[in-house]
Amino acid sequence: MLGVAAPSYKGRPILVVDDEPINLELMQRFLRGKYGPILTAHDGEQGLAILEREPIHLILSDQRMPRMDGVTLFQKALSVQPDSKRVLVTGHTDLDMVITAINAGQAYQYVTKPIDFKALDVIIQRALEAYEIAARERMLFDRFVRAAVTAIEQRDPSTAGHSERVANMTVGFARLLHDRQAGRFTELRFSPDDLEQLRYASLLHDFGKIGVREHVLVKSHKLPPDRRQLVELRIEHAVQTGLASKDEAHAMRVALLTLNDPLGSPAGHGDMLALLAKMGVLAEGDEEYLRIGRGSLSAAERAEIESHVRHTISFLEHIPWPNRLARVVEIAGAHHEKLNGRGYPFGKSVIPIEARMMAITDIYDALTAADRPYKTALPHEAALDILAGSVRQGELDEELYTIFREDRIYELSLEPARSVS
Ligand SMILES: [Fe+2]
Ligand SMILES: [Fe+2]
Repeated sequence: MLGVAAPSYKGRPILVVDDEPINLELMQRFLRGKYGPILTAHDGEQGLAILEREPIHLILSDQRMPRMDGVTLFQKALSVQPDSKRVLVTGHTDLDMVITAINAGQAYQYVTKPIDFKALDVIIQRALEAYEIAARERMLFDRFVRAAVTAIEQRDPSTAGHSERVANMTVGFARLLHDRQAGRFTELRFSPDDLEQLRYASLLHDFGKIGVREHVLVKSHKLPPDRRQLVELRIEHAVQTGLASKDEAHAMRVALLTLNDPLGSPAGHGDMLALLAKMGVLAEGDEEYLRIGRGSLSAAERAEIESHVRHTISFLEHIPWPNRLARVVEIAGAHHEKLNGRGYPFGKSVIPIEARMMAITDIYDALTAADRPYKTALPHEAALDILAGSVRQGELDEELYTIFREDRIYELSLEPARSVS
């Protein structure tokens, strides 16, 4: 008969914290064999130091200890390893406080002294299983975000690496503000969950580009390629049918090249446009494209590109984010908002700090990346000048920009992703 293998609880690190050596010894003896590895600490400080460097699935801590009690240790552990399960070992007299700690999410369970080891065994197994479920959920979201990023990058090669670089810079920015002791952001704190949330929001901020038509997304010149080809054919045809001389054809080709250049402006080239129109080589709508003032996009195409934020929002709203990631949509959806209310899609002027940081890292990366064949990457100083101009326009947060520049946040763009949990 086939039996169901009992789950193994090996390979799931447990930290035991107790100030009494005899209790530590007793607990270790009980856990050894079935569980492990087992790490021990004889006070809260030592326990925290272990949590800083080792992944721990379960913390078993005595409540009454000198200097730092068990609940305080759990409070601190929450910001170091939020997923680790915390079980308190306590006397009956502390029960009220223990229940408060459980209700506040600081403790997962408790056992009273003298310890009923059978009951403890069950509690430990449940705690380790709960840890496993949470870890799987974390992994699931992580894989999903990775898959989504791959999907955008395959669609639009110009985005390749952009999301990752923006995420590296923005999360590094938040870490720096977290540690900063001076200025407007002294009080600001980012927990590991906050950093994870920010990382996902950054990685997914441009996901909505998937809803923008590809020819608009990758448009490199003022005329769409099929329209340009048709104009060239009409010029050719005009020469072959004798409607245009070779000199006229040459002038038309120069005019087309000049007017179609995304770096050029139609101002001062009215005669070229008039020539193409007079020779009848333009179709309806061509002239409008060739009159585009700056860049390669018409007003309608620009609006379509800008719609990527709305697509990002509606896509991300469909994801059942767990509570710790509840603000991913809000943060990602505000990366093109400006403090003077002239951003999009909502024209908000109250913008979450995470999105204000991302606005800076996003623009910096877009300016300095050599991501399109026709677009030259701007040198670092020029990109900073443009950002400074946006600060003067009241679009970007001035203090954040200063920190970005002085603390060289931009250098973090290629830093390999560090785990935030
Ligand atoms: Fe964007
Ligand atoms: Fe972006």
